[in-house]
Amino acid sequence: MGIQYDGQERVFRLDTPGTAYLMGIAGEEGFLGHIYYGARLESAEGAAALLRCGENPFLPEKNERDRVAFYDTFPFEYPFHGVGDFRESCIRIRNDAGHTAGKFVYEKHRIFNGKDALEGLPATFGKRDGDSGSGSGCSGEGTESLVITCSDRESGIRLELCYSVFEDVDAVIRSVRVYNDSDTAVYLEKVFSGCLHLEDREYETITLHGSWARERHVERKRLGYGKYRVSSQRGESSHQEQPFLALAEKSADQQKGEVYGFHFIYSGNFLAQAQKDQFDQIRVVMGIEPEDFCWKLEPGDHFQTPEMAMVFSVNGLDGMSACFHTLYNRHLIRSPWLRRERPILINNWEATYFDFDEEKIYAIAKESAALGIEMLVLDDGWFGNRYDDNRALGDWFVNTRKLAGGLGELVKKINALGMKFGIWFEPEMVSPDSEFYRAHPDWAIAVPGRTPGKCRSQYVLDISRKEVRDAVLEQIFRVLHSANIEYVKWDMNRPLTDLGSAALPADRQGELFHRYVLGMYEMQERLLREFPELLLENCSGGGARFDPGMLYYSPQIWCSDDTDSIERLEIQEGTALVFPLSCMGAHVSVCPNHTVGRNTPFATRGMTALAGTFGYELDVTKLPEYEKQMIPKQCRMYHRFHGLIAEGIYSRIASCGEKKLFDCFQVTEAEKREALVFFTQVLGRPNMHSLQIRLRNLKPGAVYHIYEVDQEKEELLRDTGQRIGGSCAMQAGILMEQLWGDFQSKLLYLTEE
Ligand code: DGJ
Repeated sequence: MGIQYDGQERVFRLDTPGTAYLMGIAGEEGFLGHIYYGARLESAEGAAALLRCGENPFLPEKNERDRVAFYDTFPFEYPFHGVGDFRESCIRIRNDAGHTAGKFVYEKHRIFNGKDALEGLPATFGKRDGDSGSGSGCSGEGTESLVITCSDRESGIRLELCYSVFEDVDAVIRSVRVYNDSDTAVYLEKVFSGCLHLEDREYETITLHGSWARERHVERKRLGYGKYRVSSQRGESSHQEQPFLALAEKSADQQKGEVYGFHFIYSGNFLAQAQKDQFDQIRVVMGIEPEDFCWKLEPGDHFQTPEMAMVFSVNGLDGMSACFHTLYNRHLIRSPWLRRERPILINNWEATYFDFDEEKIYAIAKESAALGIEMLVLDDGWFGNRYDDNRALGDWFVNTRKLAGGLGELVKKINALGMKFGIWFEPEMVSPDSEFYRAHPDWAIAVPGRTPGKCRSQYVLDISRKEVRDAVLEQIFRVLHSANIEYVKWDMNRPLTDLGSAALPADRQGELFHRYVLGMYEMQERLLREFPELLLENCSGGGARFDPGMLYYSPQIWCSDDTDSIERLEIQEGTALVFPLSCMGAHVSVCPNHTVGRNTPFATRGMTALAGTFGYELDVTKLPEYEKQMIPKQCRMYHRFHGLIAEGIYSRIASCGEKKLFDCFQVTEAEKREALVFFTQVLGRPNMHSLQIRLRNLKPGAVYHIYEVDQEKEELLRDTGQRIGGSCAMQAGILMEQLWGDFQSKLLYLTEE
């Protein structure tokens, strides 16, 4: 593990436990080029030749007449714009004369232990600071960083290309800082966080797509010539696309084959793109979406990009998932709640929507407490004049017509039941029909002279402005200090449109999208500083901001407004491809399901929610007796398996995506002593015998005893009497009988004898 520079060869080498990343400096001018990223190398001797500087069109110092052709061929580590590299560039800067050409060459570098925190942005960190995960940079030990300075001498713009590696995970973290050392202002029109070059090996792209209530469905397809991009221009990472892109060898499957994964640690507009060029080279870029982005850099100013995480695995998609899960669990999620058992919550949204009062909420809490549920979360509708979603966002004070005794009284009564209390806010938004908006109409994002478009009847607050953030947080802090509130759900229910900030000059309006995200991060930072023990759950109309940026602040994110356990199979499969199970907000809700009208067994709903943070989103006082009686058993099941699910290694066995027949995955304890196998039969099939399912990741020589987790009986584990050798379970498989009916499920627990 570590970072080295070979001065003779002029090659940088970044090693992680199982991978190597190489870059080289070419020619007298000092072009920085990418050489290799992949499986670990015993020796990197001779690797510099891969820069192909000895081939036509040769370095400009040997062939000035074809300088432009060289630019269009060389695998630039951080490609620049306007001088001849016609592939996607990473940086475009417009100077005060309107010109955009630039050429960045190596100047110097430094290698150090530890890793810098990023100003105002979420960032990976080295060793966790006790349990608090301070996130404020790290001292060293197990983390190394490299900063390469490249300059464009003509324009006076300097870049710092930053790389970090950790001793315990196969990931390379990258970001870029741009400095304006000139004496005039320049405009940053595009600045990506990183780039990677690969020789094409018939790669396929894997991306995550969706919509509201259908987030993060996996799509895999062949990468052809041209550009394949996913992006968001909605001001949030979005329901529609995820800031993630993977390239998998055609033959790569869940367990084997080479897979590269790229994930952007940011929550606003992004672009992730793979481009196959005329020489069958692939260039991957990732960063802030350039559309509607333009950042003015005054002399002496600098700009920091968000981080991008790159992982590589030879163990197929499961290997890639494991890298991301480890990276986020150990080096990104800083909440003290990361390793704590999260309270089983009940949220009143699907139970009551806006129609509740103190009595109703207390009745739900009382019944829930008796069943073993540990926290009541009061969702939308407790504040201002909020009786529906047409009003009152921004008025963060208690609606005493609904909660006559105020929050203080309600929380005390709920705490007296032995339950914690949590509450919902939507801090970034304002309803035109609110006291807050009437007092500050210019605090909403809008183009002067135009009425901004409403979405869910609401406007977006211009939280790029400090006074707006202060005013919102002041109200929120007052509420949170008024009672024993231990959890906050931070929601965000519309995209950004009609971009205009009353506080920014004309030549800085292009900064608003990014300044908005920085403002939101600052608000979350201040919230956590004020309430360090708070359990924060981010949310965005379901999962429109389920991204690694938000994970830095909250250890869990609401996965989707779709709580149907069958719809959730695909949503949670796509989510788990990159995110740890312990961060997926998942609840049991009623049937017919409010989104799709489907009826599914309570046990299937329980099992699907168990694979996430686990909670309920229903009115327990109205639940059929039979279902109510299962709740204490489900709670016991959560307590029994929470640790294994949060810390275990995830393997995907079957996807319901294609044929919609069944879904299966496994979570295995690190030492492979125990495992859970989650199986859902989506549709029953007539006249079929049992399925033979091959398990994963067990000890070949061990013998495992198989139990079935029973959510209905007193005894949680039902002994099936079956024993199976690890290699037999992995090579031959175990039998999974056909279940009677659609949407049935089975949860198996294997323990080594
Ligand atoms: C969208 C969230 O995803 C829901 O869970 C709920 O909190 C509503 N907003 C409330 O408006």
